[in-house]
This record gives sequence, C-alpha cells and structure tokens, in this order.
Amino acid sequence: MRETSKHTSTPALLAFALSCFFIIDSSSGQDLDFDTSKVLGTEQANCKQCHPSETTHWHKTTHALSLNRLEYTGNSKKYADALGISQATLKTTSTCADCHGTKSESSGVVKLISGVSCESCHGGAKDWLKPHAEYFEGHKFSDLKTLREERLQETPEHRLARMKSTHDAGMIRPDMLHDLAKNCMNCHIVDDEKLVAAGHKAASAFELTSWLNGEVKHNFFMDPDKNADAPSLWMEAHQKTAEQRNRMKFVVGGMVQIETALERRAIASNSAYIPQVGGLVAVGNGKLAQANAMAPTPQTQSAAGIVGPLMGILFVPQPTDKETFSSTAKKISEHTKAFIKENDGSQLPGLDPLIKALPPHYSQQFKEKHLGK
Ligand code: HEC
Ligand code: HEC
Ligand code: HEC
Ligand code: HEC
Repeated sequence: MRETSKHTSTPALLAFALSCFFIIDSSSGQDLDFDTSKVLGTEQANCKQCHPSETTHWHKTTHALSLNRLEYTGNSKKYADALGISQATLKTTSTCADCHGTKSESSGVVKLISGVSCESCHGGAKDWLKPHAEYFEGHKFSDLKTLREERLQETPEHRLARMKSTHDAGMIRPDMLHDLAKNCMNCHIVDDEKLVAAGHKAASAFELTSWLNGEVKHNFFMDPDKNADAPSLWMEAHQKTAEQRNRMKFVVGGMVQIETALERRAIASNSAYIPQVGGLVAVGNGKLAQANAMAPTPQTQSAAGIVGPLMGILFVPQPTDKETFSSTAKKISEHTKAFIKENDGSQLPGLDPLIKALPPHYSQQFKEKHLGK
C-alpha cells in the first residue's frame, strides 16, 4: 500500500538535486568518535512514534538483544576476568558495553541503557532529533500518512538547511555510506588485543551488502508495511534503485574493511592478533580485486595499487611498519570517499553477479525465531 504521491514538485526536485551535492561533500567530514552525552535512548527519544515499523523490526534483531552477552558467566566471564573487568562494571561502564550496548551519559553519570540501538548506528540524537523531523517552521508530527504528504511541501532551502543542521549535529543518515559502513566496522573488528588473546573473536565474518540486507534491514519510511530493498526515502529522494545501492555497498564495504583492518594492524603487537587483522586486510583486498575484474573504476584500481604491496609485511610483526599501515588506512579512506563522489552505482552492473552470490545474512537466533528455520 503506497500512500505517497509520485508527483514531485519542481522545487522539491531542485532541493533533492542540491542536497545531493551537499551530501556528497559533507559525508567526508563526520567525526565518528561516539559521544555518550548526546545519546537519548530509543524509548526516551520515542523513535517509534514516527518510525514504528523500523522500531518493531529492530526489537527482533541480535543488536537489540546484545546485552544478553554481558552476563558474568561462560565466555563473558572469561573475557572480563582476562581484562580485569569486575562483575559490577561489566553491565555498566565496561569497554564490552561500548560494543554490546548503548551508553548514555547525563550529569557525568554513565548508564548502559540498551543493546546496540538506533543511535549506535545513526548517531546520538540529542541535537538532531528535532531538526531532522521538521519540514517547516513549527512542524509537528500528526500521523504517518500526513507526514509523507508534508514531506512534499518542504522548500528546497529548508531541506538544504535541515540536511546541514542534522549533519552538523552528528546524524548519520543512509546517504552517508562511508560513515555508516565505518561505524559497523568499528564494532565488528575488535581493536583490543588483550580481548582477542583471551579468546574473543577478532572480527565478524562481515560483508556489508549481505549483512545490511538481512536481519538489519529496516527500510519502512515510505511504506510501513514493506521492508524495501534499500532505504525507501533515499530511493525516492534521489530516484535511485536498490541495485545501484547494492553495487555501492559491495565496493564501499570491501574498502572500509581494508581501512579499518589496517588501522587495527597499525596498533597490533600481539602474535595472536596480527595474523587475524592481517587476514582481514587480505580478504578486503581480494574483494577489491574482484570488483576491479568485473567493474574497474579509477578509485578502486588506485586503491588496489596501494594495498597490494603491503601483503608481504601484513603478517610479520614489524614495529617500523605502523606508520605505513596507518597512513595507508587514511589513503584508502580518501579513495573510498572519492569513489562515492564519482559513482552512484549506475555504471557498475558488472558487479551484479558477485552481489547475487551473497545471500542476505541472518543470525541463527533470528532465523529460528522469525523465519522458522
Ligand atoms: C517526530 C517524528 C520523528 C521522530 C520522533 C523520529 N524521526 Fe526519524 N524521521 C522523521 C522524518 C519526518 C524523517 C524523514 C526526513 C526526510 O524526509 O528527509 C525521518 C527520517 C529518519 C532517518 C532517515 C534520514 C534520511 O535522510 O534518509 C533516520 C535514520 C531516522 N529518521 C532516525 C530516527 C531515529 C534513530 C529516531 C529516534 C532517536 C527518530 N528518527 C525519531 C521523523 C521522526
Ligand atoms: C570492538 C567491539 C567489541 C568489544 C570491545 C567486545 N565485543 Fe564481544 N563481540 C563483538 C562482536 C561484533 C561479536 C559478534 C562476533 C560474531 O560475528 O560472531 C561479539 C561476540 C561476543 C560473544 C559471543 C561469542 C563468544 O565469544 O562466545 C561474547 C560472549 C562476547 N562478545 C563477550 C564480550 C565481553 C565480555 C567483552 C568485554 C570483555 C566484549 N565482548 C567486548 C564485539 C565486541
Ligand atoms: C555498537 C557496536 C555495533 C555496531 C555499530 C554494529 N554492530 Fe552489528 N553487532 C554488534 C555486536 C556486539 C553483535 C553480536 C551480538 C551478540 O551476538 O550477542 C552484532 C551482531 C550483528 C549481526 C548478527 C550476526 C550473527 O550472525 O549473529 C549482524 C547481521 C550485524 N551485527 C550487522 C551489523 C551492521 C550491518 C552494522 C552497521 C550498519 C552493524 N552491525 C553495526 C555490534 C555492533
Ligand atoms: C546496525 C545499525 C543500525 C541500527 C541499530 C539502526 N539502523 Fe536505521 N539504518 C541503518 C542503515 C545502515 C540504514 C541504511 C540501510 C541500507 O543502506 O540498506 C538505515 C536506514 C534507516 C532509515 C531509512 C528507512 C527508509 O526507508 O528510508 C530509518 C528511518 C532508520 N534507519 C531508522 C532507525 C531507527 C528508528 C532505529 C532504531 C529503532 C534504527 N534505524 C536502528 C543502520 C541502523
């Protein structure tokens, strides 16, 4: 059931065209250091009021349930003991809770408020919650159908100002593919050598396209009854397709994996950790090679040229290589941003066979509870 009119007004189209340029430029500057003082919490911010289907879906995911891992038993006890984390702090201020949950800080007191939440991925909402939801001065939410109609009344100037203010306030929107992917990777590739030495995985078998298109997917904005194959608002605003977005995700996912694994490799000294993060760079590089074979671009070819020569030194501990790894991570990040600026996926159909071979990823618990498998 699609409520929204397809007739987009000329000013609205102009606004989308303008915001396109803005977004591309702005997407590079985001500071991804997580600021707990900006976190409100999914309940407190009432995301559900305007995003009911997204919120219902999120409650079913491994992310929403991720605090269950922080019971002081089994492997969690083992890891906590190895890091000198007490039972009392495991579920409050521990470093574990940075990845397995969402912390919020108010008047200097840090509290663990939920599992991995909306704000873990979209940024602490304190400063962007209000502006991101207002299409005009004094706009108040009434109902979802009206909301999607009011969207078409927004002036280009207002939209532009709204994009800028939410960006400055730290919101990570679907437009910002590099930041979105970097955020996933920061949790999914562990940066604590002691934790890995204690037996914790160094990383998930993370692949951005399939891991975003499975249980995490919650693209209900334009139609609360249909989980679209790409963010519905993004497709509508930019007149783009899920195929285009998947191609972008495939390449960006591989490059951000290389970037993050190189950052980890730069700080690595432990002999259990080095081969694991080194291996992740190699996997990302393999993906880049696949992309270059099927749909070469100047940015991905240049990136492969930078990473290739590192293969020989990835697995051998060499303190002198640290600078090489961290400066290469920065270069890869710049190449990824340039790739995003120069491509929208429309010219990369060569990647489709690679993408078709990546089934959407669901956790075991999600499959059992919600897919009957
Ligand atoms: C009062 C209603 C309201 C509330 C509450 C609300 N949102 Fe939204 N949200 C909106 C509207 C309206 C849009 C569409 C904006 C547009 O058209 O660009 C939106 C869009 C978004 C988008 C997509 C942005 C884009 O550019 O595609 C994200 C992500 C989002 N909201 C996250 C959240 C989160 C997380 C919360 C809770 C912390 C939240 N929202 C609470 C109204 C709301
Ligand atoms: C950098 C982020 C990060 C940190 C820090 C972190 N974890 Fe994890 N943890 C993860 C991710 C991601 C997974 C899922 C891995 C996968 O894909 O299977 C996970 C999985 C687990 C699991 C299930 C798999 C297993 O090893 O039994 C446990 C238990 C766990 N973590 C406990 C902890 C504890 C306790 C701490 C703190 C001492 C901690 N984690 C710190 C990211 C992190
Ligand atoms: C704040 C840290 C954090 C962020 C950000 C994050 N994750 Fe996770 N994710 C985790 C942890 C921790 C687990 C494991 C929870 C457990 O098993 O108890 C997990 C589990 C998952 C799972 C289930 C995997 C399985 O097979 O069990 C998927 C899928 C997933 N994440 C995808 C993503 C994607 C895609 C992104 C980015 C859009 C992302 N995650 C961002 C911390 C994070
Ligand atoms: C694991 C990270 C993660 C979590 C947790 C998360 N989101 Fe998202 N969200 C994303 C990503 C990534 C996208 C873009 C997906 C894509 O590219 O396919 C997105 C897209 C959206 C959109 C755009 C939907 C559309 O149809 O255009 C909205 C709105 C949104 N999220 C709101 C929320 C709300 C509300 C919550 C919490 C109830 C939440 N998100 C939790 C990562 C996350």
